[in-house]
Formats: sequence, structure tokens, C-alpha cells
Amino acid sequence: MEYRRLGTTGIKISPIVLGTMQMGWRVDEEESFKIMDKALELGINCFDTADVYSYWAENSHAGKTEEIIGRWLNDRSTRDDLILATKLRGAMSDDINDRGLSRRHVHQAITNSLKRLQTDWIDLYQIHSFDNDTPIEETLHAMNLLVEKGIVNYIGASNIHPWMLVESFWVSEKNGYARFETVQPPYSIVRRMLVEHQMEHVIKKFGLGVIPYSPLAGGFLTERYSADGPLPDTPRSEGAQKRYFTEKRWEIHDTVKEIAKSKEVKMTQVAIAWILAKDFITAPIIGANSVEQLEENVASLEVKLDEDEIKRLDEVSDWVADYESIR
Ligand SMILES: NC(=O)c1ccc[n+]([C@@H]2O[C@H](COP(=O)([O-])OP(=O)(O)OC[C@H]3O[C@@H](n4cnc5c(N)ncnc54)[C@H](OP(=O)(O)O)[C@@H]3O)[C@@H](O)[C@H]2O)c1
Repeated sequence: MEYRRLGTTGIKISPIVLGTMQMGWRVDEEESFKIMDKALELGINCFDTADVYSYWAENSHAGKTEEIIGRWLNDRSTRDDLILATKLRGAMSDDINDRGLSRRHVHQAITNSLKRLQTDWIDLYQIHSFDNDTPIEETLHAMNLLVEKGIVNYIGASNIHPWMLVESFWVSEKNGYARFETVQPPYSIVRRMLVEHQMEHVIKKFGLGVIPYSPLAGGFLTERYSADGPLPDTPRSEGAQKRYFTEKRWEIHDTVKEIAKSKEVKMTQVAIAWILAKDFITAPIIGANSVEQLEENVASLEVKLDEDEIKRLDEVSDWVADYESIR
């Protein structure tokens, strides 16, 4: 596997990051362990999680995914082999201060994530999204302290507007704080605008590492979805229907399908290969629900799209008109 430098940092990560949002919710602990074992075996050295995963599920709670990863890390003694990324920002309980990006919550959140993950340090600590109630100076001051103490190696930002990112660089530089080294936006062939409209320029100008999420549009970019068929039996299908079922996106879906068929590969693999071919992307974060899905997705690294295929995919998906909100 060819590892890629994470932005301008000194670390290298695999061209695919393992997402863990499904662990403890869609995937039980036993299967989660198998997926993480297999990911490591395949050469994936970077896992992404968040403190809030998976608060929304009936059979889960905020912190459950980190707890599972912590037990796996402890059981397998693999902490040194991994670049571990987590996030803070979401509500961890009903307490109105147990959320957000205040100095208080940054300290509370890291203490609890370290406990759940059974580790002494986080490689990449990301804000899950922005917090309008906390000045960015306060957040960066608190996060910088974690970097100075060696508890966190790098900081990053997810779901953030380009102008906020630039403001944060100014604050970091002015105060000598660590800056956000990475971004984690949603990005796929059916959701390009949020990144390509302005963020791409910021990424290139500041040399950021880019680890986009939802590269398969939550499962929409698979053979299971069709314009005239029934919705697949998965908890994410209604969300996919709401966000992606438009004429333009079915056209993209059909094109991905046709190209996949002609190359005798899966739609997932064409969708991921298209992202991997973008020069500003470091590594998409994939969400696999089984070892089989993981293997299929990692095999995208072997799928090379030729110039004509890329041109066709770029053209059919160009500027999908979705001035949607960031979340
Ligand atoms: N920063 C953020 O706000 C944020 C938000 C979302 C996700 N993330 C991160 O990004 C990761 C990936 O996000 P995502 O789950 O939305 O990614 P995704 O790759 O767009 O969607 C994953 C879904 O696609 C389907 N799938 C995956 N591989 C497949 C395969 N080989 N064949 C058929 N179906 C397949 C599964 O759907 P079914 O469940 O329907 O089977 C799976 O749940 C998460 O785990 C998390 O770490 C971050």
C-alpha cells in the first residue's frame, strides 16, 4: 500500500481511512473487532471515530464506539500501529455544558475519550463541527494546550466553512497555537459542491490533509439502489432517499453503474476510485458494515479509471446544484 503524507504534517496514512461510526450500532462488538483486525491486516493504519458515536441509535449510546475501539486496542496491543483520529463537539449528555467547543468541554471531552479509548494520546483531534457560542480563540487555546502536553499530536476540523478555517489559521498564527492540519468534509461524486466550491482552494493554499467522509453517499452509490426499485432494507435508506433521489443524481448513479459494469468491478469501487483520483484528497473515510464490504472497498485501490472514464464521471457530476447546509 502506498501511504500518503497527511497534509504538511510529518505523518503518513493509508489512502483509505477506516470509519467506525457503524460500530456498536449497525455492527456488534464481535464483528467490529473482525473489521478492525482485517483493516490493519490490509495495511490501513488510520481509524476515524468520534466521542458521540452512536448516540442516535436505540441500542447504543454516546461513547459506545470509542469504548469498543478501546477494548480492541487493549486486547490486540496495537496502539503503536495506528494513527487514531477522534472528534469532539456533540452533546455527550443532557448537561448543557457537556458539549460544544468551550475550554471546559475540550478538557472534559479529551479526558473521557482517552479513558474510553484506553490510550494516552490521540493522533488527530478534530472539532466535529463549529460552535457559534464559543470564540475560536478559546477553542484553539484549549486544543493547543493538549498539543503542548503531548496528549494530541495534530488538530483538525470537520464540517466547517472555508472562511472559518481561514479565520482559525489567522488566530493560530497570531497566537503561536497549533493550527488545524486537516479537514473532514462530506464528499462524493453526488456531493461535490461543498468541497469544490471554495474549500478546495483553501485546502490547496494551506496544504491541508483531506479525509472526506461518506464517499459512497451513505450507501446510495451501490447496486442496491435503483430509481424504480424498492428502498433497500437498511436504516440509512430513508436518509439517502431524502438527500440523493433527484434526477441529476440518478444520472450520476447510472454512469457509475455503467462504468463499473464495463470494468467488471463494483459501483463502490468506481465511486471510491473517482475520489482517490482527485489531487487534493488524502484518503476517504469508508464505512464498512462487514469484513466483506471492507475488502471490497479497499480493493478500490486497484481500480484505475482511465482519462475518458474520469472525464465522463466529472462531466455527469459537475456542479450538482445543492447549496445545502454543511450538516
Ligand atoms: N465528520 C462527520 O460529521 C462524519 C459524518 C458521517 C461519517 N463520518 C465518518 O466517515 C465514515 C464513513 O461514513 P459513511 O458511513 O457515511 O460512508 P459511506 O461509505 O458513504 O457509507 C457507508 C455505507 O455504505 C454501505 N456500504 C459500504 N461499503 C459497501 C459495500 N462494499 N457494498 C455495499 N454497501 C456498502 C453501507 O450501507 P448500509 O448501512 O446501508 O449497509 C454503509 O453503512 C464513518 O464511519 C465516520 O467515521 C464522519
